[in-house]
Amino acid sequence: IPVDEFDLVIFGGTGDLARRKILPGLFRRFLSGQMPAGSRIIGAARSELDTTGYRDMIAEAVAEFGGEESNNKKGLQSFLQQLEYVAIDAKGEGGWYDLAQFVRQDVVQAFYFSVAPSLFGDLAERLHTNKIANKKSRIVVEKPFGRDLESARALNETLAAHFHERQIYRIDHYLGKETVQNLMAVRFGNVLFEPLWNNHYVDHIQITVAETVGVGGRGAYYDKSGAMRDMVQNHLMQLLCLIAMEPPSQFESDAVRDEKLKVIRALQPIDHHHIVRGQYDEGPDGPGYRDDAENPRSFTESFIAMRCHIANWRWAGVPFYLRTGKRMKARSSEIAVVFKDLGHTIFEGDEARHRNILSIRLQPNEGMDLQVTIKEPGPGGMRLIDVPLDMTFAEALGDDAEDVTDAYERLIMDVIRGNQTLFMRGDEVEAAWAWTDPLIEGWEARNDVPKHYDAGSAGPEDAMMLLHRDGRRWRDIK
Ligand code: BG6
Repeated sequence: IPVDEFDLVIFGGTGDLARRKILPGLFRRFLSGQMPAGSRIIGAARSELDTTGYRDMIAEAVAEFGGEESNNKKGLQSFLQQLEYVAIDAKGEGGWYDLAQFVRQDVVQAFYFSVAPSLFGDLAERLHTNKIANKKSRIVVEKPFGRDLESARALNETLAAHFHERQIYRIDHYLGKETVQNLMAVRFGNVLFEPLWNNHYVDHIQITVAETVGVGGRGAYYDKSGAMRDMVQNHLMQLLCLIAMEPPSQFESDAVRDEKLKVIRALQPIDHHHIVRGQYDEGPDGPGYRDDAENPRSFTESFIAMRCHIANWRWAGVPFYLRTGKRMKARSSEIAVVFKDLGHTIFEGDEARHRNILSIRLQPNEGMDLQVTIKEPGPGGMRLIDVPLDMTFAEALGDDAEDVTDAYERLIMDVIRGNQTLFMRGDEVEAAWAWTDPLIEGWEARNDVPKHYDAGSAGPEDAMMLLHRDGRRWRDIK
């Protein structure tokens, strides 16, 4: 479905994110016919480029990061015609007059701040003093949205000085992932799951986001953040919210975000015995964390596992185990809802513990499966086995699965449509920091040293113990 005609200005238009994700994503939307002919994408950055130079740069970026679609040369040429470039000085006057000439007031206006947060205030102010932005303009901001509650609040205030909350789109690209949205469809579009979605039937929930990449190349940023700030405070908490929230009264942005906020506010503080931090060692595929981060004395975690509790009626007593790390054995992200034991079996000789497990796979191999117990086929009597009821999107949906759009392109189109459901509200981000701040302060005060783990493993041994102590075990990372 085409969106309304728009002018999208990308501040930081020559940067990594613009070249890797934003522009290749927009190109795919263009090819799918979603981008109206008159729409324009205006790159704005410090480099002294002209529009031709910018188009060349983006052609290269699309060739490198655009996947199969980048072979469509004719399509690419037409797409590039919709690109413009303005050299701009965020902290000075340079370029603003030119930008004002480009940006139209009678189409949807979006400004993507793909720059360091320290520039948000300057950009917001100059967009107004130069009369470029109006009451309907949308601005898009990226993580990191602060590094603690105080800095996040300050950023929110800076933006609020110039824009209303309904104009601000805070991206968490995990919310744009196909399966993440499907989570809401599965929970609230079926009669099967919701009645069981509580502490009467759910034993525990595991959320794993495992990556094989290390931090080489971005060590300077990462070493100041660590897995908690880089992944948990945003992506994992968003997943947790969608799994745990109450049904919103309607599928509308504030209704959904109100429910997510309640989950974050109900998260209990975690005792430090239930947090395991780790750092990867050198392995056959590359150096260890401290070398990658170029900080031989670093105490920053490249892995974290924790046990959380949500203090409300639905989830009292149900542990949520979260873990994420770099340089692990596979790139694999999954949410697993592990249901309780039957309690009693009527099948003689069946000592095995059969459990229903709903596994929601974010990547790779997006889809879900539900582990159910059935009779082993054949004449061997009533022997029970567990099999998955499999719904791998690529198989279940055939050709339609090809429309599994990349998270960024979906989210950018939502900005143009004016739909904030999949974006974080300011109060959500602050509540998430309010929960993580004391945990981080806690380990900093204790001078906690991260545990070592082998590159290519499932994380430190202590992370296994976190569940073993509770008589449970992590799901395999595969
Ligand atoms: C980013 C983090 O937000 O998400 C990275 O800063 C991480 O450290 C990335 O690698 C993971 O995203 P994805 O989509 O590859 O799972």
